[in-house]
Amino acid sequence: MKFLSLLLCVLLVKLSYSQNTDAQLQKEAKRRLKQLSTEEKIAQTCQLTLDAVLKVDEKGRVLEPLQLDEVKLKEVIKTNNVGSILNVSSHNLDLKTWATITAKVHQFYQLGETKTPVLYGVDAIHGANYVIGGTLFPQEIGLAATWNPALAEEMGKITAYETRASGVPWNFSPVLDLGRQPLWSRYFETLGEDPFLVSKMGQGLVKGYQGKSFDDPYTVLSCMKHFVGYSYPNSGRDRTPAWIPERQMEELFLPPFKSAVEAGALSVMINSGDVNGIPGHINHHLITEVLKNRWGFKGFAVSDWEDFRMLHTVHKVAKDQKEAIILAFNAGVDMSMVPYYTTYSEYLKLFKEAVDEGRISKKRLDDAVARILFVKLKLGLYKKQVYNSDLYLKFGSQEFKNAARAAAQESITLLKNDNNLLPLSKNERILLIGEAADNLIFQNGAWTHTWQGVDTAYNTVGALTIRQAFEKQIGAKNLHFEKGYDLSLVDGWETCNLLDVNWLKIEAKMADKIVVCLGEMPATEKPGDIRSLNLPVAYVKLIQELASTGKRIVLVTMFGKPRIVREIEPFATAVFNGYLPGDYGSEALVDLVYGKENPSGKLPFTYPKYDGVIEHYDYTNAEAKSGKNELNQAHDPQWPFGFGMSYTSFSYTNLKLSKNAIQGENDFITAEITVTNTGKTKGKETVQWYITDDFASIAPANKRLKDFEKIELNPGESKTVSFKISTSSLEFVGLDNKWISEKGSFTISVGGQKGSFELK
Ligand code: BGC
Repeated sequence: MKFLSLLLCVLLVKLSYSQNTDAQLQKEAKRRLKQLSTEEKIAQTCQLTLDAVLKVDEKGRVLEPLQLDEVKLKEVIKTNNVGSILNVSSHNLDLKTWATITAKVHQFYQLGETKTPVLYGVDAIHGANYVIGGTLFPQEIGLAATWNPALAEEMGKITAYETRASGVPWNFSPVLDLGRQPLWSRYFETLGEDPFLVSKMGQGLVKGYQGKSFDDPYTVLSCMKHFVGYSYPNSGRDRTPAWIPERQMEELFLPPFKSAVEAGALSVMINSGDVNGIPGHINHHLITEVLKNRWGFKGFAVSDWEDFRMLHTVHKVAKDQKEAIILAFNAGVDMSMVPYYTTYSEYLKLFKEAVDEGRISKKRLDDAVARILFVKLKLGLYKKQVYNSDLYLKFGSQEFKNAARAAAQESITLLKNDNNLLPLSKNERILLIGEAADNLIFQNGAWTHTWQGVDTAYNTVGALTIRQAFEKQIGAKNLHFEKGYDLSLVDGWETCNLLDVNWLKIEAKMADKIVVCLGEMPATEKPGDIRSLNLPVAYVKLIQELASTGKRIVLVTMFGKPRIVREIEPFATAVFNGYLPGDYGSEALVDLVYGKENPSGKLPFTYPKYDGVIEHYDYTNAEAKSGKNELNQAHDPQWPFGFGMSYTSFSYTNLKLSKNAIQGENDFITAEITVTNTGKTKGKETVQWYITDDFASIAPANKRLKDFEKIELNPGESKTVSFKISTSSLEFVGLDNKWISEKGSFTISVGGQKGSFELK
């Protein structure tokens, strides 16, 4: 009965939404735009943080438990018609509180007190991380290691469901910035170093968030971020300058955003840093010419946190706040994350002056607001009733947890397994060491319950730490746990102290194997800045001392970025890279350790061996040259991009090309490879297709990922996988910074097999 009424509810909600085309909605947006005064239009471009409408004490601190300040709320939404609210306050909230907040925000429109509904947005970046009981998935860097876009879509779907369950229809995700600077504090938020992998996984997330249509009450608007080049700061520090030549911008950094636009993403957040000296928020070329005009992006662009103001206070490109608004808005940013109560009236006032003075044209204002209204219409926000809590019975369900665990399972990457040490036998006595194994914050990283994710008070009840997951799997009597080290932040910098290592060595004697779990303090954005990828000295000492006992060590790392493990890796017989696997990553890990599941994660980045040598897999031939290496193989990472081991083995045979030349634009070659599971265990393998342009007018990359497919094979089973090579697979950005293809010879490689063909 309950099921039937739920079904009825879903159908009614679906029917109550109109089935209009984009063109009709854009027309409708323009009609509604005409009903707004200039002030009301300007207010649509203004976004405030939730704290702006919460009750505070005499020192301005938000009161706990949170209470909406009805007077401020009325002033902001009813009197001043502010168009958008974002964020959570300092920590996560339960569904009921979210429902109350979002209902009150929407109420002014429902009562006819404003003409335009408010759009609420939040960062649900690895699941509904700001809703108590929300299902937490691996962070994006781990998700990328699954090389499985279907899992990204599933994560997107569940995150959308649980975010919408809190009444919020807009998610500031995915991050599509390329992970090519591992020092950057937000590296873990990226989908790795390769534009093709990022594009495919990013598209999976966008499709999952947005579904087929927003008529579906389980979808949210996705927000691509951070357009573009944010992830590549020279210094490694957050929001500092990047220098990206036009060719690299076009070939590497832009494609993931273009793919997301093609997948239907309708909002974008702008890069807070500057690229080639131009702050992201005033880059007219990228925002207006490339994104909006060239790619036909129909949605709207929102600034990042306080970034209009920062054009004056930080970047120093605007002499005052009014000029900052003018520069950003005229560059094509449609909405400003203002986001404080203290500054929003000034924003509205200065904006109006700029319009009156003709420094922001009415046309530009109309274009921005029409885009915002179009998205609000598309999301169905103009319906009086946009939210029905009865629809979300699967929130936090076992089904969702299982999906998060499955994603973690496919992400955790086996990087070393000498003499097949793994899987372990359940009868062995394990000494498990590491603070990171005993607290969920180390599995989850930042953006978990709180912004920085450090406060343990909000850890998900019922989710298991690695220690608990081991205990569940092998029983308390076979497990001895020691913290081993103490991680903390001292003056904001990660600090690690080694605890009594002699005691650990005594304990080691009584164990069959040692599992050491190393993590890092959760952090993001500026608080997450680091100075080096090297490990704390305490970690190196810990592993070396433990190795001196002669007991074999399984090393588990949970790092959001590739920390340098060169000095400790030789002391470990097996190594798992867990990334930040989320609340259910611990159980996934233990299933892998004991062989209940077979590892299939593959690195989404080139794992550097040295702190000072950051390399990428698509290096050029010149980069491989070295005076110190006769073989000229200077490219020498700890582990290569795309690498990851399994408990079974796969052979690649019979690489066949349907012909050996492509004759012009519409022609193509079909490449085929047979992959066989030659081991004794069922397993998943990611077939990776790379192409090398043998000679080109621009120094060609040693190889470029062009396609991949994850397959599952039983022992002895074979599958033939194919890939269609067309001219578009051979294109690169040429001398005049335009995409071109050049005639000549190419090499295709897959699983160690190589073939040649020509473009005629
Ligand atoms: C971050 C964005 C985030 C925004 C809203 C900013 O500081 O850079 O990624 O979406 O805050 O929370």
